Amino acid sequence: MGAKTKAEVVEYASKHTIEEKLTAAVNEAILSNSPDPLGVIAAILQRESAARGAVDYDLVRNEIKSLLENQLWDDGSLGPKFVRLAWHSSGTWDPVTKTGGSNGAGMRFEAERSDPENNGLMEGQAFLEPIKKKFPGISYSDLWVLAAYVFIEQSGGPAMEFTPGRVDHADENAPAMPPIGRLPAAEKYIVKGQQDEQGRAMGWEKLAMHIRDEVFGRMGFTDRETVALITGGHVYGRCHPQDTGYAGAWVEEPTKWSNEYAADMVGDDWRLVTKEDTWLESIGAKELIPSGDKQQYVNRKKPDEIEAPDATQFLPGKYKVCSGFVNVRKEPDVKSDIIGQPQRDECLNLVAVKLFGTAVRGRLDTSGWVSIIASGGKVLFEREGDLELQPGTYRTAGECDLHSSAGGDKTGKLPAGDHKLASVALGADGRAIWAEVEGGAGWLAVLSEENGVVADRIVEGFNDKQTDKEFEDPPAPNQMMLVSDMVLAWDPEYRKVIEEYAENEEALTSDFGAAFKKLTELGCNF
Ligand code: HEM
Repeated sequence: MGAKTKAEVVEYASKHTIEEKLTAAVNEAILSNSPDPLGVIAAILQRESAARGAVDYDLVRNEIKSLLENQLWDDGSLGPKFVRLAWHSSGTWDPVTKTGGSNGAGMRFEAERSDPENNGLMEGQAFLEPIKKKFPGISYSDLWVLAAYVFIEQSGGPAMEFTPGRVDHADENAPAMPPIGRLPAAEKYIVKGQQDEQGRAMGWEKLAMHIRDEVFGRMGFTDRETVALITGGHVYGRCHPQDTGYAGAWVEEPTKWSNEYAADMVGDDWRLVTKEDTWLESIGAKELIPSGDKQQYVNRKKPDEIEAPDATQFLPGKYKVCSGFVNVRKEPDVKSDIIGQPQRDECLNLVAVKLFGTAVRGRLDTSGWVSIIASGGKVLFEREGDLELQPGTYRTAGECDLHSSAGGDKTGKLPAGDHKLASVALGADGRAIWAEVEGGAGWLAVLSEENGVVADRIVEGFNDKQTDKEFEDPPAPNQMMLVSDMVLAWDPEYRKVIEEYAENEEALTSDFGAAFKKLTELGCNF
């Protein structure tokens, strides 16, 4: 809305004097019989001004968008903080006493802010303050919710229709202020330091009751909505040891919408850790060490607990990448140069497979090595079938023996360089690979027990020319789960839903959008 013309203002003032408006609001407040008549009057007046377009929400949206990216903050976005702010502002709702909820923005006051679960959320409020200053007509309660909506949509999550009209409490004596203790606690009722034979923290059934009955049930959420909310919420951001004692992020890309939380929850192995688990530092996962008496789960294993896999299980063959990408290294050790990065679902021919410590590595027919199982135990490839050996140009690095036939006597030497190999096949023992050099020069053992792999298949764009292309090797992702998160995998009813979300991102997106909107509108009288 642009500025009003003088004529418009005069017309408005003659039709509705301020006094009339106030009298009408006071009358409505008396009729409403509300214990908070001042709150009712404020609500009416704020709704009036919003309805007349005093706040242009599209402009506020733009302002929020330009604030979100912040390279100095955590993972580069303030968005996760705003999502948590909106959730904690809403998650105190109690329909019986009609207290709490996003309406009122009570977290501005010590009485609500001092809930230990709200630690760290002042920062979120502070970042939004300049927008409130610029658009004084928007209530804090609306602004906090809108900021979360804008980020969720921008990050690829569901778009939610925003309904304004929340009214801020005048002070902390407002009757709708919630008492402390309504928000969930990640280890409520958990017996510290004890777990059952399946690795579940003792007391988890009671924690499930806390989540189901004391928190989400209280607000009228079903199991499905509860799982959608937690699964969608914890795809964002991270824990801050200085605020809550918990440490680390739930997913690899914590500023993007996805169902990765659900997929990892059911797909990864999780183990309980405390601040005593200093081995996390030695494997480069220091950021997952909680502080104080906090316990959490991580998807990393102690180095001495990783069993060496049985390499004989992994025959040479055609293998498909089943991780985001894998590194092809010049040599089979992890410090050697990366020469390629095939992506998920690409298939590679691995002509030789060997065990290196706790890792299983395979030699590509086109040169280089990949980890089929990384030393941390993560499986990166699936075997698709037998080797698909292909004729074509092969490069030999040094002089090689020529044979009269596959497995036959040595007849001469093949110089180093590129050669056309007419037919490539497994030898009679099923292990060596033999190829006939085009033009009748003889046979070459591409792979033999004696010499290993001596010739690389040349593929255009991969290894035909020397390149200066440099590949980045991002560190292994360090991920965590709160004990309360793990309950979604342990409780049979919650588990059904999280398994569905692990497979079906669209279902999560639409359920989360509906549940988050419901959450942020609890107790609002629009
Ligand atoms: C059983 C329920 C839940 C528990 C116990 C819980 C607990 C926590 C804890 C302990 C943190 C770490 C805070 C910090 O150290 O800064 C956190 C972060 C977060 N939570 Fe939850 N949460 C729950 C449900 C939800 C829901 C329903 C949402 C949203 C729909 C949500 C969104 C977030 C976000 C976005 C963060 C990251 C904040 C940041 O990066 O600063 N959580 N949660």
